[in-house]
Amino acid sequence: MKKYLPKAILTLAVIGLLAGITVTYEKYRGTDLSRVPQLAGRRLQAAIVDDTKRESVTLVAVASSDVASDTGKRHGYREVSASPPYVEEGLTLYPTIEKGMRTPFDLWRYYGRGVSSFGSPVLPMRFDQWLDFHRKQKPQLMENVRAYMESRFDFSETPLPNATMSGGKPIMKGPVVRPPKGIESFEELASMSVEEIREQDIFPYKPLAHPLQSTAHMVFPREWVRVHPEHERIDVDMDIPESYLPEFPPPLYLTTHKELGDVTNGREVTLDNFFEIFDGLLTPEQMEGLKELLRPTPTTWFNHTDHRITEKPSRGVACFDCHVNGHTNGAFELGPDSRPNMARLRVDTPTMRGNYNLMQLSSKRSVRSMDHFAEIEEYFDGDPGMQQSIGPRAAKREVTNRMGDFNSIIDYPPAPKLDPLMRLIPKLATEQELHGEKLFHGKAQCAKCHYGPAFVDDYMHDLKLERFFVCRPEGPIKTFPLRGIKDTPPYLHDGRCPTLHDVVEFFNLVLELHLSKEEKEDLVAYMLCL
Ligand code: HEC
Ligand code: HEC
Repeated sequence: MKKYLPKAILTLAVIGLLAGITVTYEKYRGTDLSRVPQLAGRRLQAAIVDDTKRESVTLVAVASSDVASDTGKRHGYREVSASPPYVEEGLTLYPTIEKGMRTPFDLWRYYGRGVSSFGSPVLPMRFDQWLDFHRKQKPQLMENVRAYMESRFDFSETPLPNATMSGGKPIMKGPVVRPPKGIESFEELASMSVEEIREQDIFPYKPLAHPLQSTAHMVFPREWVRVHPEHERIDVDMDIPESYLPEFPPPLYLTTHKELGDVTNGREVTLDNFFEIFDGLLTPEQMEGLKELLRPTPTTWFNHTDHRITEKPSRGVACFDCHVNGHTNGAFELGPDSRPNMARLRVDTPTMRGNYNLMQLSSKRSVRSMDHFAEIEEYFDGDPGMQQSIGPRAAKREVTNRMGDFNSIIDYPPAPKLDPLMRLIPKLATEQELHGEKLFHGKAQCAKCHYGPAFVDDYMHDLKLERFFVCRPEGPIKTFPLRGIKDTPPYLHDGRCPTLHDVVEFFNLVLELHLSKEEKEDLVAYMLCL
């Protein structure tokens, strides 16, 4: 008996030691601050605990701007001291945040630089803690998002009589943006000077931010997620009602088979059915391009690693998961073209229809060809450094060229009222539509930037909205084409104009057009024909 005692003690000691190491390791792993360079983990933990208690609508992340500059100092970055030319009173430094933490909804009020341009594939906490964090944060966040959107828009879901999208979905009437308090009508607002609007801070079409800009990435419409539950996010949902989004699934028209109309017969094109739908209609190269557009690949937040915002590991997303049937389902994202994340503009998915006519792709990046676009559009965050850890699309140039080959035969929807010069055929158009066309080319000045077969000029324009309210200027944005425009709500790069009526109100203010109520209706009636 006695001779076994030392062995037993030794075994127990070893077990104890191992257990101790495991517990310590687990504890350490959960709070490994060395992997979170900028923020004290303390704050993050505090955020987890506190967040459910907070109530205000626009919640600023826990860290304040002095933390931001403090962090900058620690990392040896130059502090933003002298005011850059556009920084005026009223702009605040971005708060320093960690992935997943809430960000202000009114990000136009902020400016500054990030701690680093480079991302990391590591979460600021363990995955089980990450799930738990979002389980707690999401309900409150979404409640605040709804209240915020409700404060800006009146989504009364009133359809326009006698107007539908190409596949039959009703088109919503607007304007749905809420008029400023104390202002009776949009005509009254438009009668005020730019300076008065700015002074009273009543410009209604301010930018929309991503509801969770610290993680950002793609947010899919509910209608899409119902069919593709693998794209349900643990942290945030779509913030715009379905009736203000494009139809799903949308028709797909081919330049090479106009006689067939919608080649999909009302179906969503998938990897499972594309061969059946397109065999005998496409060339082998187009066929391969289409397959590649349908093939999901990992992205920054939809992948098989812990660095994800789906509960289960994800195979990723395909081009057609946002550009469904070569069109758009209204999923939004952040433009990959700036840092810090909070400076990136929200962008809603443009259609691929008629891309063959565009010389300039993406709102700010000025990409010049579809092949090139297919090549670069792998990591929507514009961070090639994430490739190694998350897994690239790895499509060679010949493959991306073929994606471009299919992309370039996706046609616009039919516009039977237009002649070859893109003028309304008087016999087919109503008085109102004809009057709208006249305004479009005349008093309303739309045709200065929207002309030609796609109603686009292929330039970027700076609309200088900073004249109307204190903000960090968004700078030049590309003109978007208006051919088939009734099918792609919401409008502008970030979707801040949910209806065509809102776009007309927007330009009425921005271009100081002083259009009457009737003239604005005529312009909308005209755009529904394009
Ligand atoms: C998040 C869903 C999403 C996915 C997935 C996606 N896109 Fe896009 N796409 C967008 C958004 C958002 C934009 C606008 C980007 C911008 O303005 O910078 C865009 C823009 C484009 C444009 C330019 C359109 C224009 O009018 O300027 C092309 C072309 C395009 N995407 C092709 C692709 C290809 C090819 C893939 C697959 C490799 C892809 N997209 C995957 C959302 C997506
Ligand atoms: C100075 C050039 C210019 C003029 C003039 C102009 N636009 Fe635009 N248009 C743009 C730009 C640039 C955008 C994109 C702005 C953005 O996304 O922030 C745009 C966007 C749009 C959109 C949204 C497109 C989409 O896909 O989301 C519509 C609709 C539109 N314009 C209609 C009009 C109408 C109607 C007029 C006349 C009342 C007009 N535009 C006058 C440059 C112009």
